[in-house]
Amino acid sequence: MTGGAVGRMIGVGRALGSRLVTNDDLAERLDTNDDWIVERTGIKQRYFTAEDEDCATLAISAAKQALGHAGVDGDTVDLVLCATSTAPESMPSVACLIGESIGASGVGAFDLAAACTGFSYGASVASSMLQTGAANRVLLVGADAFTAIVDGRDRSTAVLFGDGAGAVVLDRGDGESGFVDHILGADGRMAPLGRAGHPGQENHKLFQNGREVFKFASRIFPELVSKLLARNDVEPDEVQYVIPHQANARIIRAAARKMEVPENKIVLNVDRFGNTSAASIPLAYPDIFESFEPGKYVVTVGFGFGLTWAANLYRI
Ligand code: ACO
Repeated sequence: MTGGAVGRMIGVGRALGSRLVTNDDLAERLDTNDDWIVERTGIKQRYFTAEDEDCATLAISAAKQALGHAGVDGDTVDLVLCATSTAPESMPSVACLIGESIGASGVGAFDLAAACTGFSYGASVASSMLQTGAANRVLLVGADAFTAIVDGRDRSTAVLFGDGAGAVVLDRGDGESGFVDHILGADGRMAPLGRAGHPGQENHKLFQNGREVFKFASRIFPELVSKLLARNDVEPDEVQYVIPHQANARIIRAAARKMEVPENKIVLNVDRFGNTSAASIPLAYPDIFESFEPGKYVVTVGFGFGLTWAANLYRI
């Protein structure tokens, strides 16, 4: 299949909280240990924000890095989109703060909340805006600092999450390289499986039913990938990378067993970053972007609280 692609990636960037926290560090203050965390999740370390950092500062750093990588100025961006569920304030949006800091004042900027699925939702919105001509260059950022909404004393959640941001600069492109398809889904009947209040809301920290979310994610990942490839007539050997949301290495491995795409094409970095929610998928790009093979495909596939889920097919 050729033509019809929109949203060519011209630059990628990422930022992480500046405090590296190992499993042993957590075991000093929680009833947990490195063996349990590695065996149940595959996570070895994560990065937490320092006092002077939050979701917005990470988002701005990642955005600036992506623009630098693309070699374009911020004032050439005509839409700023930030996927996040942990904006430090309800207003202004993180996207407005990013726009101001990169010199893209006066252009559209908004946040989009779909928990860990946010970046995949955002990719579909960005490519639609590029498709219609409402935008010519979109800065798409996925940023979250779950330390602001997780109870650091709750071992069942505190070991899972990390703080980070990933950004991509998307141009409309020439129709050959870019996003070719998206699947979005949500089902609020599963809202009780994961909930959290706003940053700073002490009596409403993150709660999740880990086992049920695990089962759902292991099932939805392969289903989404199969559906996306089938309806676009893309063969598994045309896929160069699958980037799944990085929540738990066991979920990714269980899903990989049911996917037609070989496991060595599935990107895994949860060991280094933990679950960074909306940042999880774009955090992977800086490690793989330079090896992209034109004509091949990248599949991104996410799930998150809501519950929400989404997958994107990108032709390199
Ligand atoms: N250290 C040691 N023991 C622990 C820890 C810990 N950090 N956390 C829980 N345990 C204990 C439990 O108390 C339980 O003990 P018990 O048997 O005495 O009751 C035991 O370990 C097993 O607990 P389970 O919850 O059954 O462990 P499980 O193997 O299911 O792993 C986990 C838990 C890692 C949370 C897993 O279920 C998971 O990853 N689920 C998916 C969660 C997810 O993806 N969330 C993100 C959603 S995306 C978004 O929008 C943010």
